Amino acid sequence: MKVKIVFYSMYGHIHRMAEAVAEGAREVEGADVELLQVPELVSDDVLEESGAKKAREVFAHIPLAKPDDLADADGIIFGTPTRFGNMCAQMRNFLDQTGGLWAQNALVGKVGSVFTSTGTQHGGQETTITSFHTTLLHHGMLIVGMPYTETRQFTLDEISGGSPYGATTIAAPDGSRMPSENELAMARFQGRHVATIAKKLAGT
Ligand SMILES: Cc1cc2nc3c(=O)[nH]c(=O)nc-3n(C[C@H](O)[C@H](O)[C@H](O)COP(=O)(O)O)c2cc1C
Repeated sequence: MKVKIVFYSMYGHIHRMAEAVAEGAREVEGADVELLQVPELVSDDVLEESGAKKAREVFAHIPLAKPDDLADADGIIFGTPTRFGNMCAQMRNFLDQTGGLWAQNALVGKVGSVFTSTGTQHGGQETTITSFHTTLLHHGMLIVGMPYTETRQFTLDEISGGSPYGATTIAAPDGSRMPSENELAMARFQGRHVATIAKKLAGT
């Protein structure tokens, strides 16, 4: 049973969450878990100027995703930072190359799930995830979120991401806040939860 985690990250927050999602998925016996990142679209000089070039070196070793990589997965967990309340262009560009898969019904019946990161607490975590779900539904995927059985999403005694739609983190407007232990635990939950369901559906 294969679980693929496909992400884009500009400053490393989503990458850190993706590693936690992968850790959780690997806890499920028989799960073959792979991390992939979608290609960058921003030019090198702009990345350099914003500090993203340096941040992206940390996960430069993670292979680039090709649309066909999705075809043999049983579960796919997508990670994207928020851009104006939606997924980032790099992820949209990747998904817009999955028309061939759509034409072959290649993703129908696979488990799909999404996690995200925003700069501010109310900057669009829910809209980013639920609008992402629209694309997954067009592909015929079965949407899995993060049920309230993951009780860490009730946390109010500290600032924390986490939603029934999927794991989230808050990066702060200047990107200085990395995912907290509470948020990483929820990301691990999401990975484990998706892998458990994908395993049942795969009958393995
Ligand atoms: C063009 C642009 C638009 C953004 N829009 C939002 C937004 O709507 N709401 C928000 O809270 N943060 C917004 N952000 C902040 C990013 O979501 C934040 O940098 C990201 O979550 C950090 O994750 P990463 O390090 O994995 O890239 C935006 C950032 C950029 C560059």
